[in-house]
Amino acid sequence: MKAAITATAKYTPPDKLTNFDLEKILDTNDEWIRTRTGIQERRILKDPDKATAYMCAEVSKQILEKRGISAEEIDLIIIGTVTPDTIFPAAGCLVQGMIGAKNAWAFDLSAACSGFLYSLVVGSQFIESGMHKKVLVLGADKMSAITDFTDRNTAVLFGDGAGGVLLEPAKDGYGVLDAKLYADGANGKDHLYMLAGGSLRPPSHETVDKKMHAIRQDGRVVFKSAVTEMANSAVEMMRRNNLSADDITYLIPHQANHRIIMATAERMNISMDKVGINIDRYGNTTAATIPLCLAELDESGKLKSGDNLIFVSFGAGYTWGGIYVKW
Ligand code: ACO
Repeated sequence: MKAAITATAKYTPPDKLTNFDLEKILDTNDEWIRTRTGIQERRILKDPDKATAYMCAEVSKQILEKRGISAEEIDLIIIGTVTPDTIFPAAGCLVQGMIGAKNAWAFDLSAACSGFLYSLVVGSQFIESGMHKKVLVLGADKMSAITDFTDRNTAVLFGDGAGGVLLEPAKDGYGVLDAKLYADGANGKDHLYMLAGGSLRPPSHETVDKKMHAIRQDGRVVFKSAVTEMANSAVEMMRRNNLSADDITYLIPHQANHRIIMATAERMNISMDKVGINIDRYGNTTAATIPLCLAELDESGKLKSGDNLIFVSFGAGYTWGGIYVKW
């Protein structure tokens, strides 16, 4: 028995940070950001008392309402995130408490921009094994918390947001039908990372002064790997499942750069109207990009039973991969 996505939802904070706002604080400009990344604005969670768990709780409450079920029916909550409110307790446990899912166990999964795909695969296993009937899988990041707003190489790229799905047992032939995930720590660790805050470099005056608690990226190097592996993963999902370009209803890619997304669509030989894109409005929300995009498509009424969806991502680790869903 496969796992079906039976509800979707998203949360984006109300406050916008536009390219023009960034022009005022950084040596950058709207034209560079738009043409190099596709981003026009991103959302920032400004309330200092709210973070990733809050956004996830908002998503979870919407999912429960849409599906007409109570929080007590949830068996498991998995949150893909690299920005949990605290190292512990896990954001998953905070959300479990916030929504009153008292019969659920909960944990966080760290796979950066692939956090949702990794979590979806893990969550699906509990449905496939028959161990659970209802699993909440979310991807959420408050990237503004780990962004150095004096570094133009990264500050223009990221935003805050959350999205998620409910997994339940699927009818035969539907649901999460295939997945292939990858990791390459040997190459990934030197090009996309946060130096401090973990056990290797605990917080100190030095780590704060040197801004070692912010994301750092060698964009050019990461770009090359992201273009190659996102496209490879998408084509691999098509090949493994005998899907032609005509068979694909939507590609829902991680939203790091519209040039990476376009290159992926080109390799799949699909037109851009079959690609979910919202990077212009939200930037890179890390683990949230794919469930945010999926929820937007779902809420717009564009998804029909039997649609063939491909999800692909690439991110820190490196982590990447593809998933095939029969909607
Ligand atoms: N505004 C103006 N100029 C800028 C800016 C900016 N914000 N940022 C960089 N530049 C300059 C650079 O200094 C450089 O100038 P130089 O030629 O004089 O040295 C020039 O623009 C080109 O810089 P590049 O880094 O080569 O620009 P590139 O075209 O590669 O775009 C970007 C940079 C957008 C970061 C791109 O490399 C990218 O998207 N990389 C992949 C990102 C990704 O997929 N990350 C994985 C997911 S993130 C995660 O896992 C958390």
